[in-house]
Amino acid sequence: TGMFTYDPGFTSTASCESGLTYIDGDEGVLLHRGYPIGQLAEHSSFMEVSYLLLNGELPNQAELDKFNYTITRHTMLHEQLATFYRGFRRDAHPMAVMCGVVGALSAFYHDSTDITDPHQRMIASHRLIAKMPTIAAMAYKYSVGQPFLYPQNDLSYTGNFLRMTFGVPAEEYEVNPVVEKALDRIFILHADHEQNASTSTVRLAGSSGANPFACIAAGIACLWGPAHGGANEAALNMLHEIGRPERIPEYIARAKDKNDPFRLMGFGHRVYKNYDPRATVMQKTVREVFAALKVDNPVFEVALQLEEMALKDDYFVEKKLFPNVDFYSGVILSAIGFPTTMFTALFALARTVGWVAQWNEMISDPEQRIGRPRQLYTGPTQRDYLPVDKR
Ligand code: CMC
Repeated sequence: TGMFTYDPGFTSTASCESGLTYIDGDEGVLLHRGYPIGQLAEHSSFMEVSYLLLNGELPNQAELDKFNYTITRHTMLHEQLATFYRGFRRDAHPMAVMCGVVGALSAFYHDSTDITDPHQRMIASHRLIAKMPTIAAMAYKYSVGQPFLYPQNDLSYTGNFLRMTFGVPAEEYEVNPVVEKALDRIFILHADHEQNASTSTVRLAGSSGANPFACIAAGIACLWGPAHGGANEAALNMLHEIGRPERIPEYIARAKDKNDPFRLMGFGHRVYKNYDPRATVMQKTVREVFAALKVDNPVFEVALQLEEMALKDDYFVEKKLFPNVDFYSGVILSAIGFPTTMFTALFALARTVGWVAQWNEMISDPEQRIGRPRQLYTGPTQRDYLPVDKR
């Protein structure tokens, strides 16, 4: 059956045209609308990068102020949604809560579900970007049994998220500027990454004309898996399990063993066959956060030495396995105080920008049709039905 090209895992299929993000995996290059990720992480803010991804150009000051104002106006969640949270068990994984709550948004914001109207599409996009920190922080608050905090709009996007997560009504919350900067940078590094599994999921869901909230919920579901967004959680768990530098060789040996399913989490990437440029920024950010918070945690030392040893090992060299963005992000997030179960939720928060930008790009594309892959059929040939007593 040579009718279709067989491409499991879509390693050589371009599913769309896109002007958002460029990756050269061999050179370790990542550009958003032409700008190198290193420059954006160093000099820009998550709000600027969000504007860039959504609108195609970096904003001038007036455009940035207006964008901040618009996002800020949408940070509150419909009050009824607080009740929705209460239907979950307290030990629910935040990603389970996020899937549910984001999917439910379409039931609350009917005035932004007409996807044929560019204005409504933009409102839905702004709503999703603005509400995601509130939704993620509420998932966290619910899990620890603390009261939900309303957004505070004189804070930055990231500062407001930190306060909603770690603040309590009884006390004034002071945003630590180093932590705010580091988390904002982590958001920038996760904002978009061309046609990864969750973004492709959002596009496929959206190709049928589904509403944007449902599409983003589909993206969140896909992101949850350990091979994708769940990797930062898995990477930190692994570093804790290794515990001390002396044990690293044992884990490297396991990762190389064909009969052992264990992989070094936070290592390897479908596209990067060179150092992930996001990992470089992350490694530097760990140092800054640890210094500012006076953290002295052996996991960072384990991570550094693991990286060094793996990069000298023939197996990792030959297979071109390098640390990816998730290798260090978990170390930073846990130093800030996030439990591991929140890591993927933070990834979802940041990636929402990429998802909505890609979704808008797709809907505006005149070539856009429903996504409908074909298959190579491997089942039985035609046969006749037999009544149950004849089988
Ligand atoms: N440790 C040990 N061996 C590995 C690893 C690893 N982390 N990653 C890949 N390999 C080996 C793999 O066994 C295979 O060997 P062989 O060719 O002998 O069978 C070879 O390298 C190619 O691996 P693959 O699974 O065919 O490659 P892929 O492109 O399908 O998978 C990946 C990419 C990221 C899923 C994989 O590298 C992996 O599982 N890494 C660990 C999980 C992880 O860190 N994921 C985060 C990805 S970046 C963030 C995101 O996108 O969400």
